[in-house]
Amino acid sequence: MSWLITTAVFVFVVCIEATSHRGNVGSSPSHGHFVVRDSTTGQICLIADMGLQFKILYTKNDGKFGTGVFSVPQSVNTTGFCDSNDSSLTLMFHDDTFNVTFDFVKSVKGGSVSRFHVSTIEISYTELPSIFPGTKSPDARRHVSNNTMNIFSADADKSYMCNANVNITVTKDASILARQVQLQPFGVKSGKFSSAQVCSQDTGNKGSFNIAAIVIGVIAGLALLGGVFAYVVFSERKRQDYHSLNSD
Ligand SMILES: *[C@@H]1O[C@H](CO)[C@@H](O)[C@H](O)[C@H]1NC(C)=O
Ligand SMILES: *[C@@H]1O[C@H](CO)[C@@H](O)[C@H](O)[C@H]1NC(C)=O
Ligand SMILES: *[C@@H]1O[C@H](CO)[C@@H](O)[C@H](O)[C@H]1NC(C)=O
Ligand SMILES: *[C@@H]1O[C@H](CO)[C@@H](O)[C@H](O)[C@H]1NC(C)=O
Ligand SMILES: *[C@@H]1O[C@H](CO)[C@@H](O)[C@H](O)[C@H]1NC(C)=O
Repeated sequence: MSWLITTAVFVFVVCIEATSHRGNVGSSPSHGHFVVRDSTTGQICLIADMGLQFKILYTKNDGKFGTGVFSVPQSVNTTGFCDSNDSSLTLMFHDDTFNVTFDFVKSVKGGSVSRFHVSTIEISYTELPSIFPGTKSPDARRHVSNNTMNIFSADADKSYMCNANVNITVTKDASILARQVQLQPFGVKSGKFSSAQVCSQDTGNKGSFNIAAIVIGVIAGLALLGGVFAYVVFSERKRQDYHSLNSD
């Protein structure tokens, strides 16, 4: 019986462990909701929900390298545009001294299925000593970009969703950590996301979680069967012992 209890406690602990790991995505700095409106109709044509953290290498006074870390704050100015095959989102913050732009393109591959992805990321920033301590070039304006990106891809007119953190390498010196992303750059209706296509990291997690759940289920089932079997055998023995005692 004590063995059964031990197994039950073990299964319980494993379940708690598995759920707490999945719930670990939080603790993001600030999660923004950004929209772009169509310039002619005034309707929302692009939506992006995400938290962004930047890490950028810089040179210090002593010639060593440092890493400047900053996040998109709560208060931003958003601009952009939507065309049938291109759309763009720009976030400006810290009195417009920092900008980040995501350009989305729609691509038709072979047949009629068309998908979108982010093709260009541009980051403009200022080497503020508060963010880049000991910088060799205080308040210098910097600009990094990459126009051969291929991230945040989904079927056109659907939304892309990723709960797992995505580390985006823009250049060898600049990366962006995107948290809890859902975005849609084309085919937005009534200012709402269309159905979501989840990133491979999320489906991968779910897959291993399901396998873990199945394994736990099988182990728990076997343990229970074993316990019942042991109990039956045990009480059968006891009964026989009792009988043999009596018949002697
Ligand atoms: C968008 O792409 C489609 C398919 O490639 C093309 O037929 C259409 O002319 C493009 N529209 C614009 C505005 O470039
Ligand atoms: C947004 O734009 C206004 C007007 O240009 C400016 O005063 C303000 O500082 C900007 N806000 C941010 C967060 O950059
Ligand atoms: C950010 O973009 C705005 C508008 O395009 C521009 O006026 C501003 O100079 C940009 N800031 C930086 C740091 O490049
Ligand atoms: C731009 O991104 C692509 C894909 O991540 C990468 O292969 C390429 O090296 C990057 N370009 C620059 C200038 O860093
Ligand atoms: C992205 O990953 C690289 C390599 O692991 C790391 O150096 C960088 O700090 C990460 N970027 C962010 C924003 O977390």
